Amino acid sequence: MLVVLKKDYDEVSREAARMVAGAVRGKPEIVLGLATGSTPLGLYQELIALHRAGTLDFSRATSFNLDEYLGLDHSHPQSFHHFMETNFFQHVNISRRHVHIPDGTIQGDYDSYCAGYEQSIKSAGGIDLQILGIGRNGHIGFNEPTSSLASRTRLKALSRETSEDNRHFFSDPSAMPKCAITMGIGTILDSRRVLLMASGRSKAAAVAKAIEGPITSSVSASALQMHPDVTFILDEEAAYSLTQRDYYRHVLEMTQLFTPERLS
Ligand code: PGA
Repeated sequence: MLVVLKKDYDEVSREAARMVAGAVRGKPEIVLGLATGSTPLGLYQELIALHRAGTLDFSRATSFNLDEYLGLDHSHPQSFHHFMETNFFQHVNISRRHVHIPDGTIQGDYDSYCAGYEQSIKSAGGIDLQILGIGRNGHIGFNEPTSSLASRTRLKALSRETSEDNRHFFSDPSAMPKCAITMGIGTILDSRRVLLMASGRSKAAAVAKAIEGPITSSVSASALQMHPDVTFILDEEAAYSLTQRDYYRHVLEMTQLFTPERLS
Protein backbone atom coordinates (compact mmCIF):
# COMPACT_ATOMS: atom_id res chain seq x y z
CA MET A 1 0.00 0.00 0.00
CA LEU A 2 1.13 3.52 -0.72
CA VAL A 3 0.26 6.12 1.88
CA VAL A 4 0.57 9.67 0.55
CA LEU A 5 0.54 12.29 3.32
CA LYS A 6 -0.65 15.76 2.40
CA LYS A 7 -1.17 18.92 4.43
CA ASP A 8 -4.87 19.57 3.99
CA TYR A 9 -8.01 18.82 2.04
CA ASP A 10 -7.04 20.98 -0.95
CA GLU A 11 -3.72 19.17 -1.31
CA VAL A 12 -5.48 15.79 -1.06
CA SER A 13 -7.89 16.85 -3.80
CA ARG A 14 -5.12 18.11 -6.08
CA GLU A 15 -2.99 14.99 -5.62
CA ALA A 16 -5.97 12.70 -6.30
CA ALA A 17 -6.86 14.76 -9.39
CA ARG A 18 -3.29 14.51 -10.65
CA MET A 19 -3.43 10.72 -10.39
CA VAL A 20 -6.90 10.38 -11.90
CA ALA A 21 -6.03 12.76 -14.75
CA GLY A 22 -2.84 10.80 -15.43
CA ALA A 23 -4.82 7.55 -15.56
CA VAL A 24 -7.43 9.03 -17.94
CA ARG A 25 -4.73 10.44 -20.23
CA GLY A 26 -2.87 7.13 -20.17
CA LYS A 27 -6.01 5.16 -21.08
CA PRO A 28 -8.73 7.37 -22.60
CA GLU A 29 -11.20 4.44 -22.61
CA ILE A 30 -10.66 4.00 -18.86
CA VAL A 31 -13.35 2.50 -16.63
CA LEU A 32 -13.59 4.65 -13.50
CA GLY A 33 -15.23 3.64 -10.23
CA LEU A 34 -16.68 6.82 -8.71
CA ALA A 35 -17.68 7.82 -5.19
CA THR A 36 -19.99 10.43 -3.69
CA GLY A 37 -19.82 12.29 -0.37
CA SER A 38 -18.03 15.42 0.75
CA THR A 39 -14.56 13.91 0.35
CA PRO A 40 -14.38 13.63 -3.46
CA LEU A 41 -16.00 17.04 -4.13
CA GLY A 42 -12.63 18.79 -4.38
CA LEU A 43 -11.33 16.06 -6.68
CA TYR A 44 -14.29 16.57 -9.03
CA GLN A 45 -13.72 20.34 -9.00
CA GLU A 46 -10.07 19.84 -9.94
CA LEU A 47 -11.01 17.42 -12.74
CA ILE A 48 -13.64 19.85 -14.05
CA ALA A 49 -11.01 22.63 -14.07
CA LEU A 50 -8.60 20.43 -16.05
CA HIS A 51 -11.38 19.58 -18.50
CA ARG A 52 -12.29 23.26 -18.93
CA ALA A 53 -8.64 24.07 -19.52
CA GLY A 54 -8.76 21.63 -22.42
CA THR A 55 -6.29 19.17 -20.94
CA LEU A 56 -8.61 16.35 -19.89
CA ASP A 57 -11.04 14.47 -22.11
CA PHE A 58 -13.64 12.06 -20.71
CA SER A 59 -15.37 11.35 -24.04
CA ARG A 60 -14.19 7.74 -24.15
CA ALA A 61 -14.34 7.06 -20.41
CA THR A 62 -16.89 4.84 -18.67
CA SER A 63 -17.95 5.15 -15.04
CA PHE A 64 -19.59 3.00 -12.40
CA ASN A 65 -20.69 4.57 -9.14
CA LEU A 66 -20.31 2.69 -5.91
CA ASP A 67 -23.77 3.08 -4.48
CA GLU A 68 -27.18 4.70 -4.32
CA TYR A 69 -29.82 5.09 -1.63
CA LEU A 70 -32.71 2.71 -1.93
CA GLY A 71 -36.00 4.47 -2.63
CA LEU A 72 -34.63 7.76 -3.98
CA ASP A 73 -35.61 8.85 -7.45
CA HIS A 74 -32.80 10.10 -9.74
CA SER A 75 -34.01 13.67 -9.36
CA HIS A 76 -34.12 13.59 -5.55
CA PRO A 77 -31.64 16.24 -4.34
CA GLN A 78 -30.00 13.74 -1.94
CA SER A 79 -29.75 10.93 -4.49
CA PHE A 80 -26.29 10.05 -5.68
CA HIS A 81 -27.58 10.37 -9.26
CA HIS A 82 -28.28 14.02 -8.53
CA PHE A 83 -24.97 14.45 -6.72
CA MET A 84 -22.97 13.07 -9.66
CA GLU A 85 -24.91 15.06 -12.23
CA THR A 86 -24.56 18.41 -10.47
CA ASN A 87 -21.05 17.97 -9.08
CA PHE A 88 -19.35 16.27 -12.01
CA PHE A 89 -21.11 14.85 -15.06
CA GLN A 90 -22.82 18.02 -16.30
CA HIS A 91 -19.47 19.84 -16.23
CA VAL A 92 -17.39 17.36 -18.26
CA ASN A 93 -17.78 15.53 -21.58
CA ILE A 94 -18.41 12.01 -20.31
CA SER A 95 -21.07 10.29 -22.40
CA ARG A 96 -24.26 9.57 -20.41
CA ARG A 97 -24.38 6.21 -22.26
CA HIS A 98 -21.17 5.29 -20.43
CA VAL A 99 -22.34 6.35 -16.97
CA HIS A 100 -23.66 3.77 -14.52
CA ILE A 101 -25.11 4.36 -11.06
CA PRO A 102 -27.12 1.76 -9.16
CA ASP A 103 -30.84 2.45 -9.52
CA GLY A 104 -32.36 3.27 -6.13
CA THR A 105 -35.90 2.98 -7.43
CA ILE A 106 -35.85 -0.74 -8.17
CA GLN A 107 -38.34 -2.87 -6.30
CA GLY A 108 -38.58 -6.60 -5.94
CA ASP A 109 -35.85 -8.73 -7.44
CA TYR A 110 -32.86 -6.93 -5.96
CA ASP A 111 -30.51 -9.87 -6.44
CA SER A 112 -31.00 -10.05 -10.18
CA TYR A 113 -30.68 -6.25 -10.54
CA CYS A 114 -27.41 -6.34 -8.57
CA ALA A 115 -26.10 -9.31 -10.58
CA GLY A 116 -26.82 -7.23 -13.69
CA TYR A 117 -24.76 -4.32 -12.29
CA GLU A 118 -21.86 -6.71 -11.69
CA GLN A 119 -22.25 -8.04 -15.22
CA SER A 120 -22.15 -4.50 -16.68
CA ILE A 121 -18.84 -3.89 -14.89
CA LYS A 122 -17.46 -7.13 -16.33
CA SER A 123 -18.75 -6.35 -19.83
CA ALA A 124 -17.03 -2.95 -19.68
CA GLY A 125 -13.74 -4.75 -18.99
CA GLY A 126 -13.63 -4.24 -15.22
CA ILE A 127 -12.86 -1.11 -13.23
CA ASP A 128 -9.40 0.35 -13.92
CA LEU A 129 -9.37 2.92 -11.14
CA GLN A 130 -11.71 2.96 -8.15
CA ILE A 131 -12.05 6.18 -6.13
CA LEU A 132 -13.08 5.71 -2.50
CA GLY A 133 -13.85 7.76 0.58
CA ILE A 134 -14.06 6.12 3.99
CA GLY A 135 -16.78 6.33 6.62
CA ARG A 136 -16.08 7.01 10.32
CA ASN A 137 -16.97 3.36 10.83
CA GLY A 138 -14.48 2.24 8.17
CA HIS A 139 -17.04 1.59 5.47
CA ILE A 140 -16.15 1.82 1.78
CA GLY A 141 -19.12 2.30 -0.47
CA PHE A 142 -22.00 1.39 1.82
CA ASN A 143 -20.25 -1.77 2.99
CA GLU A 144 -21.03 -1.33 6.65
CA PRO A 145 -19.06 -3.09 9.40
CA THR A 146 -19.44 -6.90 9.24
CA SER A 147 -19.99 -6.84 5.47
CA SER A 148 -18.49 -9.96 3.95
CA LEU A 149 -15.04 -9.25 2.55
CA ALA A 150 -16.16 -11.27 -0.50
CA SER A 151 -19.44 -9.37 -0.95
CA ARG A 152 -20.70 -8.30 -4.37
CA THR A 153 -23.19 -5.61 -5.37
CA ARG A 154 -26.27 -6.02 -3.21
CA LEU A 155 -28.95 -4.42 -1.07
CA LYS A 156 -27.41 -3.33 2.22
CA ALA A 157 -28.99 -2.01 5.43
CA LEU A 158 -27.31 1.20 6.60
CA SER A 159 -25.72 1.37 10.04
CA ARG A 160 -26.76 3.77 12.78
CA GLU A 161 -23.46 5.66 12.40
CA THR A 162 -23.97 6.17 8.67
CA SER A 163 -27.55 7.30 9.21
CA GLU A 164 -26.34 9.80 11.82
CA ASP A 165 -23.59 11.10 9.53
CA ASN A 166 -25.85 11.59 6.50
CA ARG A 167 -29.23 12.42 8.02
CA HIS A 168 -28.54 16.16 8.21
CA PHE A 169 -28.39 16.36 4.39
CA PHE A 170 -32.11 15.59 4.30
CA SER A 171 -34.54 18.46 4.90
CA ASP A 172 -36.73 15.90 6.68
CA PRO A 173 -34.17 13.73 8.54
CA SER A 174 -36.71 10.93 8.92
CA ALA A 175 -36.73 10.66 5.09
CA MET A 176 -33.16 9.34 5.16
CA PRO A 177 -33.30 5.88 3.50
CA LYS A 178 -32.54 2.87 5.66
CA CYS A 179 -30.96 0.83 2.87
CA ALA A 180 -28.80 1.26 -0.20
CA ILE A 181 -27.60 -0.64 -3.23
CA THR A 182 -23.81 -0.85 -3.01
CA MET A 183 -20.95 -2.52 -4.80
CA GLY A 184 -19.49 -5.17 -2.51
CA ILE A 185 -16.02 -5.36 -1.03
CA GLY A 186 -15.25 -8.17 -3.47
CA THR A 187 -16.36 -5.90 -6.32
CA ILE A 188 -14.05 -3.14 -5.11
CA LEU A 189 -11.13 -5.56 -4.66
CA ASP A 190 -11.53 -6.64 -8.30
CA SER A 191 -10.68 -3.16 -9.57
CA ARG A 192 -7.15 -2.83 -10.94
CA ARG A 193 -6.22 0.16 -8.85
CA VAL A 194 -7.76 1.84 -5.81
CA LEU A 195 -7.41 5.43 -4.62
CA LEU A 196 -8.81 6.13 -1.15
CA MET A 197 -9.04 9.73 -0.01
CA ALA A 198 -9.62 10.88 3.56
CA SER A 199 -9.61 14.25 5.26
CA GLY A 200 -10.27 15.40 8.80
CA ARG A 201 -9.77 14.13 12.35
CA SER A 202 -13.15 12.35 12.35
CA LYS A 203 -11.64 9.83 9.90
CA ALA A 204 -8.34 9.29 11.78
CA ALA A 205 -9.40 6.22 13.76
CA ALA A 206 -10.96 4.47 10.74
CA VAL A 207 -7.92 5.28 8.58
CA ALA A 208 -5.48 3.88 11.17
CA LYS A 209 -7.50 0.69 11.53
CA ALA A 210 -7.78 0.31 7.76
CA ILE A 211 -4.03 0.69 7.16
CA GLU A 212 -2.39 -0.64 10.33
CA GLY A 213 -5.05 -2.78 11.96
CA PRO A 214 -5.90 -6.40 11.31
CA ILE A 215 -7.96 -7.34 8.26
CA THR A 216 -11.44 -7.66 9.63
CA SER A 217 -15.01 -7.38 8.43
CA SER A 218 -15.51 -5.01 11.37
CA VAL A 219 -13.53 -2.43 9.35
CA SER A 220 -14.45 -2.87 5.70
CA ALA A 221 -11.60 -0.68 4.43
CA SER A 222 -9.06 -3.04 6.04
CA ALA A 223 -9.83 -5.44 3.18
CA LEU A 224 -7.81 -3.08 0.96
CA GLN A 225 -4.67 -4.55 2.59
CA MET A 226 -5.28 -7.51 0.28
CA HIS A 227 -5.29 -5.33 -2.84
CA PRO A 228 -1.99 -5.15 -4.77
CA ASP A 229 -2.31 -1.52 -5.93
CA VAL A 230 -3.96 0.77 -3.43
CA THR A 231 -3.02 4.36 -2.63
CA PHE A 232 -4.31 6.24 0.40
CA ILE A 233 -4.19 10.04 0.05
CA LEU A 234 -4.61 11.58 3.49
CA ASP A 235 -4.39 14.99 5.04
CA GLU A 236 -2.60 15.54 8.36
CA GLU A 237 -5.78 15.23 10.40
CA ALA A 238 -6.89 11.98 8.77
CA ALA A 239 -3.37 10.55 9.18
CA TYR A 240 -3.21 11.62 12.84
CA SER A 241 -3.49 8.14 14.40
CA LEU A 242 -1.09 6.32 12.06
CA THR A 243 1.99 5.11 13.89
CA GLN A 244 4.31 4.70 10.88
CA ARG A 245 4.08 8.07 9.13
CA ASP A 246 7.88 8.40 8.76
CA TYR A 247 8.06 5.03 7.07
CA TYR A 248 5.25 6.00 4.63
CA ARG A 249 7.20 9.15 3.70
CA HIS A 250 10.31 7.03 3.10
CA VAL A 251 8.33 4.58 0.96
CA LEU A 252 6.97 7.47 -1.08
CA GLU A 253 10.46 8.89 -1.67
CA MET A 254 11.73 5.48 -2.80
CA THR A 255 8.68 5.03 -5.02
CA GLN A 256 9.35 8.41 -6.64
CA LEU A 257 12.93 7.30 -7.22
CA PHE A 258 12.47 3.71 -8.43
CA THR A 259 8.87 3.19 -9.61
CA PRO A 260 7.44 6.65 -10.31
CA GLU A 261 4.84 5.15 -12.67
CA ARG A 262 2.96 3.98 -9.55
CA LEU A 263 2.32 7.62 -8.75
CA SER A 264 1.44 8.86 -12.22
P1 PGA B 1 -17.78 11.65 3.29
O1 PGA B 1 -18.28 10.15 3.27
O2 PGA B 1 -16.88 11.80 2.10
O3 PGA B 1 -19.02 12.47 3.13
O4 PGA B 1 -17.06 11.87 4.57
C1 PGA B 1 -17.35 9.15 3.07
C2 PGA B 1 -18.03 7.80 3.14
O5 PGA B 1 -18.97 7.64 3.92
O6 PGA B 1 -17.60 6.90 2.41
